[in-house]
Amino acid sequence: MQEKRVGILGLGKKLGSKVLTNKDLEKIVDTSDEWIQTRTGIKERRILDKGESAATLASAAAKEALENAGVKAEEIDLVVVTTITPEQPLPATAAFVQREIHADKAGAFDLVVACPGFVYALTVLSPLISIGKYKYILVVSCDTLSTITDWEDRGTCVLFADGAGAAVLGEVPAPRGILQSAIHNDPYNIELLEIPGGGSRRPYSHEVIDNKEHFVKMRGNELFKVAVKSMTDVSLEVLEKAGWTIDDVDLLVPHQANIRITDAVATRLKVDKEKAVISITYMGNNSSATIPATLYDIQKEGRLKENDIVLCTTFGSGVAYGALLIQW
Ligand SMILES: CC(C)(COP(=O)(O)OP(=O)(O)OC[C@H]1O[C@@H](n2cnc3c(N)ncnc32)[C@H](O)[C@@H]1OP(=O)(O)O)[C@@H](O)C(=O)NCCC(=O)NCCS
Repeated sequence: MQEKRVGILGLGKKLGSKVLTNKDLEKIVDTSDEWIQTRTGIKERRILDKGESAATLASAAAKEALENAGVKAEEIDLVVVTTITPEQPLPATAAFVQREIHADKAGAFDLVVACPGFVYALTVLSPLISIGKYKYILVVSCDTLSTITDWEDRGTCVLFADGAGAAVLGEVPAPRGILQSAIHNDPYNIELLEIPGGGSRRPYSHEVIDNKEHFVKMRGNELFKVAVKSMTDVSLEVLEKAGWTIDDVDLLVPHQANIRITDAVATRLKVDKEKAVISITYMGNNSSATIPATLYDIQKEGRLKENDIVLCTTFGSGVAYGALLIQW
């Protein structure tokens, strides 16, 4: 019998429909197209338009992933949405997606790990397929960061965007599939990126809202350094565990937080610049959606080909970080 591994059977993507350019942001905060492009690489980003929300983006991406995988919704065993911006506080956004796509026999829950959500989900869920517990799992990484952004804070509002990327996981013939993965969290840097208000410690109140504690607070400069180190270290860890070297990698698909972070990680890993995929220029930072949405785009462009070795690496609030090595 041919050896099997767990892999991605099909991808889907849906970004917010409203295009927000750097010029648009110049009208909102004291910034410039030149500053944003030089310091972050972003030219434009997509945010929610009227009538759109986490569940509408996530469901659209999910439907497309199912179609591309050739898997029916009723065959899905688990629907897992990674998000920090749910459709509403209760129930899980996964329940809304499940209802929309009619994945009627599935269990459904959300995973809250900010930007590394996709890598975390694939790491913890893929063994459930290898051990035979489940056949197909739908992972939808969906974040609508525009809804938790302080639109008066130029240090954050120029970065964030709204989007969803979905993947159907199932068995693929070896040597393709997930080769190795690792996830970690550095809790001593929680305060570098957080939403302090709106939880049990600081429940919603007029004071919380007036202080804007329900919006993302970020210490960008310090986070930058932690990001570069953690993404590099965890990439080297998965390569070593898999018995591969960086020269074996065809494509580096990092979380898209800042083009300078990607450049610094690529330099430290000694990856040729042309192997490092950049989508932040047109997508901004869609949190956990960036990696699946970027994989979707490069597969569509023909840049990502069967059997390519792909190294995904990511970090975010927590500070959570992780990496995934896949033979496509
Ligand atoms: C946020 C980030 C782009 C800021 O870039 P930076 O080069 O570190 O800039 P600094 O924060 O040191 O600020 C430099 C100056 O630019 C200013 N500035 C910040 N945002 C600005 C903006 N949008 N437009 C113009 N000026 C801006 C600052 O006020 C500061 O001015 P000052 O020197 O007069 O005080 C960068 O630190 C970053 O990307 N960090 C990682 C963030 C991240 O990854 N977040 C998501 C994690 S998933």
